[in-house]
Amino acid sequence: MLILSCSSKLRLLEGLLQRGLPETLPVYGAVMHVNRGNPAGQEVLVDSWPEFKIVLTRPRREVACDPGNYCANLYSAFYQEEGACRALLRSSHAVDWSQAFQIQGLQDGLCEVVRDIARVRGVDVETYQYQTLLHPDPPAMPQHRPGKGLTLAPVSSAHVALLNDTWDFGGNSWSLHYLDLLIRHFPSACLLTPEGHPISWTLTDPVASLTHGYTLPGHRGQGHIRVLIGALAAQLHACGFPVYAGVLPENEPSQRSLHRLGFHTQPGLSYQLVVTPKPTQGQPASVQGPAPSSGGQLRFHSL
Ligand SMILES: CC(C)(COP(=O)(O)OP(=O)(O)OC[C@H]1O[C@@H](n2cnc3c(N)ncnc32)[C@H](O)[C@@H]1OP(=O)(O)O)[C@@H](O)C(=O)NCCC(=O)NCCS
Repeated sequence: MLILSCSSKLRLLEGLLQRGLPETLPVYGAVMHVNRGNPAGQEVLVDSWPEFKIVLTRPRREVACDPGNYCANLYSAFYQEEGACRALLRSSHAVDWSQAFQIQGLQDGLCEVVRDIARVRGVDVETYQYQTLLHPDPPAMPQHRPGKGLTLAPVSSAHVALLNDTWDFGGNSWSLHYLDLLIRHFPSACLLTPEGHPISWTLTDPVASLTHGYTLPGHRGQGHIRVLIGALAAQLHACGFPVYAGVLPENEPSQRSLHRLGFHTQPGLSYQLVVTPKPTQGQPASVQGPAPSSGGQLRFHSL
């Protein structure tokens, strides 16, 4: 196992992952962010170099993270050989299985590997499946103007409580801190009323995916989210990022918005596996699994 810290190797890896798109999402997005200032404090692991069979991104060990915060404790994986993926993820040098974390990837084998290791280690896994929608040509995306009286702006940390309260799967302190991290460090966009209240917003995350799209119920069906996605897509594309999102298969409004903008649904599914250690007597609450939330389990990787 190697931690890639040399900038020329990381650039080379980025180029190799780009050639493997879309299968290399979301690892490609994570490596791109690492190579552009590393706002989430991630690091990149490979089994060997320059020939590698697995790439894993994870939070740097020195980046303080609440051991129960599976929102911020984000890993992503891309493998060329499932056996190499299994060997690396099994290693406690690569993955800290005593903490809660989420791992994302587009390959079916990732689910099987994570579930197998979790079973042996006696930890819980929740699996979420998404469709990946990728834009083939962001400059060709139709650009819509904000509706009358509305202003386009980045999301402000002042609005994080609103985002956390309206997120079905938020409502706890971990999701609040995670949303605040996204707002402060990654591109985002919202539409503000003349009074300065956001009515629609979209964020992006450490794997460079569009995420947390939301329009207040009274304002839906007026194309607001399309204004925001168009603006963010232009921003992401100008920095060389792919423009993509993960959407729950049953979320038709999200899919309609994205299809109308020219996104293509990719074959297969993307996976988000949320791993939480089982509670043990005497353990502090913060490592005993998800904090209580208003809406049940968390979902992140969705527009
Ligand atoms: C998905 C969502 C962000 C779309 O925002 P929006 O600003 O309404 O987007 P659009 O105006 O482009 O409308 C998208 C689709 O919503 C549907 N829609 C239209 N009017 C609607 C209404 N009054 N209420 C709900 N949905 C409506 C339509 O299917 C529409 O597609 P169409 O214009 O091709 O008919 C919004 O529905 C939402 O916030 N949903 C809840 C949160 C969510 O699911 N977020 C995505 C995470 S998976």
